[in-house]
Amino acid sequence: MKIELDRNKVLFNNGSSIQEIHPFWLRERVDGEEYLDKGTQQRLFDPSSMSSEIIIEKANINEGFLEIDFNDGANFKLPIDKITSEFSNKDTVIKSINKIKWDANLKDIKNFNFSEDFFESREMHDLLVSFYEYGFVIIKNVPTENNYIVKFANSIGSVRRTNFGEHFNVKSKSDPNDLAYTSLHISPHTDNPYRNPVPCIQILHCIKNQVSGGYSTLVDGYTITENLKNEDPEAYKILSEIKVRFKFIDKNVILEDWSELIHLDENKEFKQVRFSPRLDYVPILEKNKLDLYYKSRKKLSDLYNSESNRIKFRLGPKDLIMMDNYRVLHGRTKFDPQEGERHLQGCYIDFDSTEGRLRHLKRKFNI
Ligand SMILES: [Fe+2]
Repeated sequence: MKIELDRNKVLFNNGSSIQEIHPFWLRERVDGEEYLDKGTQQRLFDPSSMSSEIIIEKANINEGFLEIDFNDGANFKLPIDKITSEFSNKDTVIKSINKIKWDANLKDIKNFNFSEDFFESREMHDLLVSFYEYGFVIIKNVPTENNYIVKFANSIGSVRRTNFGEHFNVKSKSDPNDLAYTSLHISPHTDNPYRNPVPCIQILHCIKNQVSGGYSTLVDGYTITENLKNEDPEAYKILSEIKVRFKFIDKNVILEDWSELIHLDENKEFKQVRFSPRLDYVPILEKNKLDLYYKSRKKLSDLYNSESNRIKFRLGPKDLIMMDNYRVLHGRTKFDPQEGERHLQGCYIDFDSTEGRLRHLKRKFNI
């Protein structure tokens, strides 16, 4: 990629074609003191109130800088690197982290250790990268006093409060409004598929665990649906096309949202899975289509529930797990509440928290 000049036109040469860069596009990036606040990097002018008749009066390339004088008196001197970095049109921090596929054979994943100044540390940077690679991360030795999980969440970003509160306690109780609050086996699911928007990240913190069962289980929705795309394109297609209804009914609230079980982005790439077989209802469709849908959903469910796709581990006190609720499904094995107490605390944060912190740490450590 190269910036070139042709008299007062600024050209962008990507090796195979040459395009003129719009003068207004450049004018918007003027960064002198009167145009840009240095601290926040926010504009001090509103480009929409400017005349659209912006003309370049003089352009020059000098030692890696592009220098321009505009007809309205503004001028700039910007590093060419900074301009070309905008041409990829991509988020260079989060999207550049490649997801790593995994199944039951996943071994040697690094656990992280809580320490003083954890949230500002290089360790936190590495943790967040690992989180985006695998869709989950385990942190050991996290304090459990005074609902520390909320402080933990708020130290990465901001806790996402729901009608369950800032955080919720997962232990068996009488009259539960969700199976999570029993001692029963919980099959793989994503949380809160009925919410708009669905909480992005779930944090679960083990406070006490005196039972021999109650293992945590995880499966990777990304690996499974990408494999399905290759192995059974017809099933993948219908599951990524039909929107189904997810609904949650409680005493004071009725939550409902519609989505495909495999939700793709505008480029037809993986974006999010939702799966909660107690809560999903497919709309009425032609019988043939529903035949295929039910067959495909069963196939997906079998894959999610297969031991060959699942990792299983025991959370001990002070262990905290952070999981991508758009990618990873979680569950647990049953336990016997007579053996003792099993107490987890949970809360949610959204991707702006992890993304914001990761960008900050990259800037801080110049990575
Ligand atoms: Fe859950």
